[in-house]
Amino acid sequence: MTVTRGLEGVVATTSSISSIIDDTLTYVGYNIDDLAENASFEEIIYLLWHLKLPNVEELAELKNQLSENAELPQEVLNHFKTYPIQKVHPMAALRSAVSLLGLYDDEADVMEEDANYRKAIRLQAKMPSIVAAFARVRKGLEPIAPKKDLSFAANFLYMLTGKEPEPIAVEAINKALVLHADHELNASTFTARVCVATLSDVYSGITSAIGALKGPLHGGANEAVMKMLKEIGTLENVEPYIRGKLERKEKIMGFGHRVYRNGDPRAKHLKVMSQKLTELTGEPHWYDMSVKIESIVTGEKKLPPNVDFYSASVYHSLGIDHDLMTPIFAVSRVSGWLAHILEQYANNRLIRPRAEYTGPGMQKYVPIEHRD
Ligand SMILES: CC(C)(COP(=O)(O)OP(=O)(O)OC[C@H]1O[C@@H](n2cnc3c(N)ncnc32)[C@H](O)[C@@H]1OP(=O)(O)O)[C@@H](O)C(=O)NCCC(=O)NCCS
Repeated sequence: MTVTRGLEGVVATTSSISSIIDDTLTYVGYNIDDLAENASFEEIIYLLWHLKLPNVEELAELKNQLSENAELPQEVLNHFKTYPIQKVHPMAALRSAVSLLGLYDDEADVMEEDANYRKAIRLQAKMPSIVAAFARVRKGLEPIAPKKDLSFAANFLYMLTGKEPEPIAVEAINKALVLHADHELNASTFTARVCVATLSDVYSGITSAIGALKGPLHGGANEAVMKMLKEIGTLENVEPYIRGKLERKEKIMGFGHRVYRNGDPRAKHLKVMSQKLTELTGEPHWYDMSVKIESIVTGEKKLPPNVDFYSASVYHSLGIDHDLMTPIFAVSRVSGWLAHILEQYANNRLIRPRAEYTGPGMQKYVPIEHRD
């Protein structure tokens, strides 16, 4: 047996959804740079699920389906009130709420292709509503119902704040959603595929994926970056703080990647956004500190920033609570998870690798009264 730790370099499936080749990320053959500059998140959802960009009617239909399905069942809202809400991380709340949604979906266990597509719409539509509602309920505020005439990105901000957002905020959230939507066989997408390859249901697949995204080595890194920026506090502190961490062989959150070697192509888009937004909010030090961290970490360790590094200061500048950063990643990545789940069902085989056994050799059972 050859053991490949962390499955590095192992090709576990074929997929037509996204690719990372020579540090270039594409969704269905479209370069991420092109999509980040030009596409709406709704177009990306359609692209990932249908493997083509939508025409005008197809996009209008998808938008309509999303807005018609965005409202949450009262049972989910009531459930928030039973949580120890001040202690619950929003990713844990999201994971539980998605699982709960499955209980109220009559089609949860209907495995036909059409039914699975309808569940994909419902889940994509409801994820931002869950995040926004939870964020308000824990502050003692009423959840806000989605507005039908707003874009996906604008609606999310509206449900979070109760105000129609500024165009720059909508642009930033739309870009972030586009950039995070899919990423080949990343840990949470693999988790979703492993789950549904047992022919388990869509809700189980997405619940498992949220659990995998929550960890700081994956989606949880953006919140960890903001925590680090706050700990550092000033531009002067960057140098001793980062060098100290490197000397102690601690990881710097928001750097490094399993697949990219020369840099994550998504990071530069968020870097530009971070500069723009931190200037606008009068807090350019978050951007300046980030740039200084980048220059030390790339200089010392040759590790470029990943998607999570500059997204932290972008979300902070939009006034978003720091623990909502990873849930926003999930609101976007659910589009990719769902695309991969539908692809897995269409050509399924159980995913079941092996482990090389390293425990003791053959032993004989000893009755308890004869054990030491
Ligand atoms: C993304 C990540 C999990 C990839 O992990 P991986 O491919 O398993 O790589 P490893 O963790 O084995 O790291 C390989 C080497 O680079 C170093 N390294 C990797 N990321 C590092 C980081 N962020 N800071 C400092 N050193 C890092 C490791 O310490 C290790 O060094 P060593 O060989 O001297 O022990 C890893 O880079 C990381 O933990 N990054 C920080 C968390 C993060 O930003 N996650 C979001 C990813 S989009």
